[in-house]
Amino acid sequence: MEIDIRPIQLSDTASFRQAVGSVAREKRFLMTTDAFSLERATEFVSKNIDNNYAQYVAISDGEVVGWADIVPKSCPSEKHCGGLGMGIIAPYRGQGLGDRLLASAIRHSWDIGLTRLQLGVFDDNHRAMALYQKHGFQHEGTMRHAALIDGNYRDIHLMAQYRV
Ligand SMILES: CC(C)(COP(=O)(O)OP(=O)(O)OC[C@H]1O[C@@H](n2cnc3c(N)ncnc32)[C@H](O)[C@@H]1OP(=O)(O)O)[C@@H](O)C(=O)NCCC(=O)NCCS
Repeated sequence: MEIDIRPIQLSDTASFRQAVGSVAREKRFLMTTDAFSLERATEFVSKNIDNNYAQYVAISDGEVVGWADIVPKSCPSEKHCGGLGMGIIAPYRGQGLGDRLLASAIRHSWDIGLTRLQLGVFDDNHRAMALYQKHGFQHEGTMRHAALIDGNYRDIHLMAQYRV
């Protein structure tokens, strides 16, 4: 089936929230371990749309099966920095969707004037790190024991790229 990659629409919010929840509950890849409330998800998506921030979704049969967003930091001295978040629900991984979503989000972010893109990734998430490296991100450092999930400490690799 053809899977469309396109900017998110407000009507995708419930489906987006469900996709995030599904990946979050795996407790292996994301900082969050469950879905955000619908209210918080709506606020996030509306803000991204209203400000023309990069938020792309992969749509299969009308449902969100993956997402990538790059949202500028709110602190005045960090407004040139965009933080990346992304995920693909399990059955759709390894089919090139992450590659397509990330390419769209990065292109959009440079186009709106961001000059630094950054992210954090668990140090055992080799697939994500390979994808990020392929798209120009470089390792900048490691936050040791930065997350604690179900009693297990996790290290977070910081990665970034910039055009300054
Ligand atoms: C990480 C993730 C976004 C990658 O998206 P994907 O659609 O599965 O990956 P793609 O099929 O687009 O592959 C893109 C690249 O990822 C890397 N990759 C894909 N599968 C891989 C694997 N099994 N092992 C290592 N690298 C792999 C490769 O660099 C690949 O590029 P290539 O095919 O040109 O070699 C996706 O697997 C995912 O959502 N995982 C769970 C949630 C997550 O980790 N989110 C990121 C949190 S920081």
